Amino acid sequence: MLKQKIDNPVWQKKEEWWYNVWKNVEPPFCPSKREVMFYEKAVKKILKRKNPKVLVLGSTPEIRDMLAKYKKLGVYIIDADVPVYRAMTRLMKRNNKQEKLVISDWLKMPFENDSFDLSLSHGAFSVIRLKNHEKLYKNIKRVIKKDGYVVMSRVNVEPFLKEPISFKQIIDKYKEDPKYFKNFQNRIYILYQLTSQPGLYNYKTQCFKYQAMARKLKDYAKKQGLSEKQIKSLYFTPDFDTNLKCDDTEIQTLKRLKTMIKKHFIIKETYQDAYHPVAKIFVHFLCQPRK
Ligand SMILES: C[S@@+](CC[C@H](N)C(=O)[O-])C[C@H]1O[C@@H](n2cnc3c(N)ncnc32)[C@H](O)[C@@H]1O
Repeated sequence: MLKQKIDNPVWQKKEEWWYNVWKNVEPPFCPSKREVMFYEKAVKKILKRKNPKVLVLGSTPEIRDMLAKYKKLGVYIIDADVPVYRAMTRLMKRNNKQEKLVISDWLKMPFENDSFDLSLSHGAFSVIRLKNHEKLYKNIKRVIKKDGYVVMSRVNVEPFLKEPISFKQIIDKYKEDPKYFKNFQNRIYILYQLTSQPGLYNYKTQCFKYQAMARKLKDYAKKQGLSEKQIKSLYFTPDFDTNLKCDDTEIQTLKRLKTMIKKHFIIKETYQDAYHPVAKIFVHFLCQPRK
């Protein structure tokens, strides 16, 4: 059954697309080296246990490569999408025979209670709607042992709200230093600073009105004489139209995020990298379940 699907040209096309996109990806879209070291610290806490088992939400190659160093770990990958999993596996530097793929939904989490010593994920909550977060917290908590650990790498909007930038300042910067916008980390950073502008971040729904921001920036840039090509180069996804079709982005304040985590977990440690100012988007939490 799986074999037939893998031979399916639609799946193959999807796998190639993901492979090509992800092969050049940089943090914050993937974890940085130091962020992976934070995951590894958690792994070391469970290594002495009998048959330690790790659950990975998603197929992040950087996490799986680190886990592959530890031969006694049982590694379970839960991912709903086989072509993405296959693309990510091709991007791994190590081969891990201890890895098992479970094709399923994190919101279903088909494991017995207390099955794992550790769960790791990078940005998993970002692809789950906020209204389903409660369910995801509960699912993770259920399958992790009482003395187990959970590392969650979570996006937060807080630093950007505190670093206001106006549309005018962005376009002035573009005119003065267009090279700055060639770096996609700079583009993410500067556009997220626009959450600080009136009406673009809704505290109640915890939504960055990305579509509204993109349209406003486009209009302003046009008025300032930027060409279509120059305008496109302001955004951090390759296709400007795709940005416009995007839903508003749900991204929580640190306060709301911590309140939600603390309801289900005890936060033991946090970590933030500083490879670039954009690293502030991610806060990494080492937690234990509240059972
Ligand atoms: C956007 S990709 C990016 C790669 C990412 N770093 C990762 O962890 O694989 C996120 C992955 O999460 C998986 N995914 C998203 N929502 C899921 C869900 N509800 N259940 C299981 N997997 C899910 C996708 O299939 C995809 O492989």
